[in-house]
Amino acid sequence: MSHAPLITLNDGVQIPQLGLGVWQLSDEQAFASSAAALAAGYRHIDTAMIYGNEAGVGRAIAESDVPRDEIFVTTKLWNADQGFDSTLRAYDASLKLMGLEKVDLYLIHWPLPSKNAYPSSWRALVQLQKQGRVGSIGVCNFNAEHLERIIGDTGVKPALNQIEIHPDFVQHDLVEFCQSQGIHTESWSPLGQGGELLNQLTLKGIAAHHGRTVAQVILRWHLQTGHIVIPRSSNPGRIVQNFAVFDFELSAEDMAAIAAIEQGKRLGPDPATFNLGA
Ligand code: A2P
Repeated sequence: MSHAPLITLNDGVQIPQLGLGVWQLSDEQAFASSAAALAAGYRHIDTAMIYGNEAGVGRAIAESDVPRDEIFVTTKLWNADQGFDSTLRAYDASLKLMGLEKVDLYLIHWPLPSKNAYPSSWRALVQLQKQGRVGSIGVCNFNAEHLERIIGDTGVKPALNQIEIHPDFVQHDLVEFCQSQGIHTESWSPLGQGGELLNQLTLKGIAAHHGRTVAQVILRWHLQTGHIVIPRSSNPGRIVQNFAVFDFELSAEDMAAIAAIEQGKRLGPDPATFNLGA
């Protein structure tokens, strides 16, 4: 069985570069998809409190033959729980739902600049990590100014920043900033949410040339760009397909052709203004 390459984060922890995302899956679907993914060789699952499926993911881990310490599990602090004490409570609630003693990565889901609680939420994550209660700590959807503030406050850099990235929205400046800080980037909605990107003509041509699907070409692009990537699927065949990407390589010409298709199309909310649940 093939395995995803490992990336070493700035805290020394290793994370499988490709994992399963479970956004928008019901608890039951998240259970089934996580179980299928573990059987297919995935060792990394990414959920969040707001997805409402932490229990399903936890159940799949508990029922799997794969030992807990071989699975990298991520969950995220929801916006409504930001603040020092409420973050600590939310972390405990997530652990309870998942039936786990700790997760490998805990992320602040959104910066919510208007609430101005991300600095105290980050201090809570730093405390949890110092106490050995969580593996790695990081953030999602942080812009450079949010990253600079929490690093300035605590001296602790997030292990990674999970942001919207796909070939139509590459976030070049933010990725470069993260790289300059030693912060890895993790792509959400890596397949463009399964939309029109999968019919893009350049990608179709590259896929035909390699005898692969467009989704596999896009995932290779993320891997070769250096991102950690968490494609979502509720379909067992596509879960297997999305993991069969470690035995071919895009050429420099392919990568250049993909770089040329970007139209800067953001699919999700803008982190500078998004304040759901604040
Ligand atoms: P499905 O669950 O039916 O497989 P993203 O990770 O960018 O948010 O994309 C997820 C979307 O892409 C889901 O709608 C998922 O549908 C679809 N998807 C996932 N993998 C593939 C694939 N290999 N081919 C086509 N669509 C895919």
